[in-house]
Amino acid sequence: MITIICATHRPQNQTLRIVEKYQQILVALGVEANIMRMDELPENFIVADSFGERSAETEKVIHEKLVPADKLVIVAPEYNGSYPGVFKAFLDGVKPAMWLGKKVALVGVASGRAGNLRGMDHLTDVLHHLRMEVFSLKVPISRLDMLINEEGELTDTETQQMLKLQAKGFLKF
Ligand SMILES: Cc1cc2nc3c(=O)[nH]c(=O)nc-3n(C[C@H](O)[C@H](O)[C@H](O)COP(=O)(O)O)c2cc1C
Repeated sequence: MITIICATHRPQNQTLRIVEKYQQILVALGVEANIMRMDELPENFIVADSFGERSAETEKVIHEKLVPADKLVIVAPEYNGSYPGVFKAFLDGVKPAMWLGKKVALVGVASGRAGNLRGMDHLTDVLHHLRMEVFSLKVPISRLDMLINEEGELTDTETQQMLKLQAKGFLKF
């Protein structure tokens, strides 16, 4: 099973649009794909849950969406030149053994020009530290506002092609 992670909890975040598109692509390729969002975690996750008593909500998310996934697609928006802090808090709040050996594809999302390339590099360093295997074909998506329509749907064909190319390669990885 593949889990696609939306690495932000910002209300109305645009990253989720790309996550949903990615799920459509994987389903069209005949693969079961779940979505996991940082805003599914309890509001007090960082303070009360990540190092304290594990809440039932967090436990459920981890056991239904993280543990059974042998592959993860992490879609991370660019926040101040990197990936969101909430996702680092989540990485830190889960036992390293739960991440070990998983294969990961990375997609960066930004309103600026860099497509979160730097954030994907930062993530790669941390994921390798956790002994996860990162797929070499990463997809930086820049100027997101120009690639989606008024309903927020990704309409840009070139970006869709890049996501499909990555997804097909990742299935063989
Ligand atoms: C806290 C914060 C920091 C941001 N920093 C950057 C940045 O460094 N570079 C950039 O291109 N966009 C930056 N953005 C814009 C996001 O890339 C943009 O909102 C994009 O839609 C993806 O984020 P979203 O999923 O929260 O919508 C930032 C947005 C937020 C909320």
